Amino acid sequence: MPLSLSRRSFLATGSAAGALGALGLARQALAATGSFETPLAIPPLERGRLEGGRRIFDLTMQDGTHEFFRGYHTPTKGINTDYLAPVLRLTRGEMTRFNVTNALGHTTTLHWHGFNLPGIADGGPHQQIAPGETWQPEFEIVEAASTMWFHSHQIHETAPQVWAGLAGMAIIDDGESPPGLPGEYGIDDIPVVLQDRRFQLNGTMPYRATMHDRMAGMQGNYPVVNGTISPYLEVSREAIRLRLLNGSNGSIYHLAFSDLRPFQVVASDGGLLAAPVTMKRLTLAPGERTEIVVRLKAGEPVSLYALAPAAGGGNRGGGMMGGMMGGGGMMSEMGAQSPEFALMELRPAATLEPAPALPERLADLPAPDPAGAANRRQFLLEMGMGPRMMAGGGFTINGETMDMNRIDHVVKMGESEIWEIGNPGPMAHPFHVHNTQFRILSRNGRAPAPHEAGRKDTVLVAPGERVEILVRFDRYADPDAPYMYHCHILEHEDAGMMGQFTVV
Ligand code: C2O
Ligand code: CU
Ligand code: CU
Repeated sequence: MPLSLSRRSFLATGSAAGALGALGLARQALAATGSFETPLAIPPLERGRLEGGRRIFDLTMQDGTHEFFRGYHTPTKGINTDYLAPVLRLTRGEMTRFNVTNALGHTTTLHWHGFNLPGIADGGPHQQIAPGETWQPEFEIVEAASTMWFHSHQIHETAPQVWAGLAGMAIIDDGESPPGLPGEYGIDDIPVVLQDRRFQLNGTMPYRATMHDRMAGMQGNYPVVNGTISPYLEVSREAIRLRLLNGSNGSIYHLAFSDLRPFQVVASDGGLLAAPVTMKRLTLAPGERTEIVVRLKAGEPVSLYALAPAAGGGNRGGGMMGGMMGGGGMMSEMGAQSPEFALMELRPAATLEPAPALPERLADLPAPDPAGAANRRQFLLEMGMGPRMMAGGGFTINGETMDMNRIDHVVKMGESEIWEIGNPGPMAHPFHVHNTQFRILSRNGRAPAPHEAGRKDTVLVAPGERVEILVRFDRYADPDAPYMYHCHILEHEDAGMMGQFTVV
């Protein structure tokens, strides 16, 4: 019974209860986690090698076992490791090739989430890698400095494959980091892959999705950060940067520190914001990344939580979560999209090296210009109820489930378009578009919150919302190799809430 033995009461972990109580959020559900007994695993950096003017990475997708709980070897999958992957350090302007070998017993793919790249290199459902084969996508890194990721995208199997561990983080450098922004990997610049996994008493985490899991998205009973359960991180500097990736299957994390201290958001999915945005709570949906800088006091631990969404709450400035919590009947249970966890603890040393304040400006980020948009398209995300849902066919975009033989949209290269995403249903859906970094124009007619005003490739669309984004595909045209757009709740994606477009 490793699970109960390795747990202590959440309330034993200190000042958290008071702060949460003040918020009215001290739910006993938090008791499920919060022991902070394991140091946070920092994945090794993988820089690849230079060969003939190219940066080359050798990646092997493989089976393994991972010790989430001491003495228990959980069957997992990983990339060059037993669970998840090393952090790939990429450089803008470098032609980069990945030799991706499938050493698994089943077909898989490896998708480059957030990258602008040729369709044949995308690693989506069309670039399948059979067992024993090596796939060699090659493309130039064109993105600004940012936190990206990569993961399996096998058709109908993405959820179980990512659940098992086939995902990892990539960090892009562009040589333009503003002074004062923490950037020393593993010291004050920390990769943080947030997930949750459902462990059984024997320590295994088989992917067994019930009807509820397929609807709400698969969720765990333990938070897993970089493959470590409820870890702590020893901190030696006054300020650290956390590169947060929501790599979960279906959990929307409403993040806050235990004392509700403010932090500064410095980057969204596609890189730095124009200026830091000070916040106390931040929503991160599956597929999204954010980078925050938090200041610490010597000797005073603080932990990072995932909280229940504030009812009618305004952490996106528009009361967007209200709809999620206000639903009636069966669907009000879908607040279960947002599990409550004590994710990790930051443990500052007794004395800390000083860190400068952040600069007032981080990057040049021109305002999006919708005036020149050549086209407008609509994407309606729907969950069919009743018999259709029971038959597993209820997740649609514009009334259709994913069909690999159907191209849903053809977009002209270099033209800006406004895509309008509507969600009339009871659950929030993070809408992701391949091959681009887009800009959010509006949520229900209102301008996006400042922390969402930068480059994005995934946007959470709450029940009842209509979100407009400005998209553009600048670099690669190919009538034959489609890209995907889809809900990044992996169970929804696998059930068909996905479509295809080509760029010509
Ligand atoms: Cu992160 Cu189409 O995926
Ligand atoms: Cu993607
Ligand atoms: Cu969805």
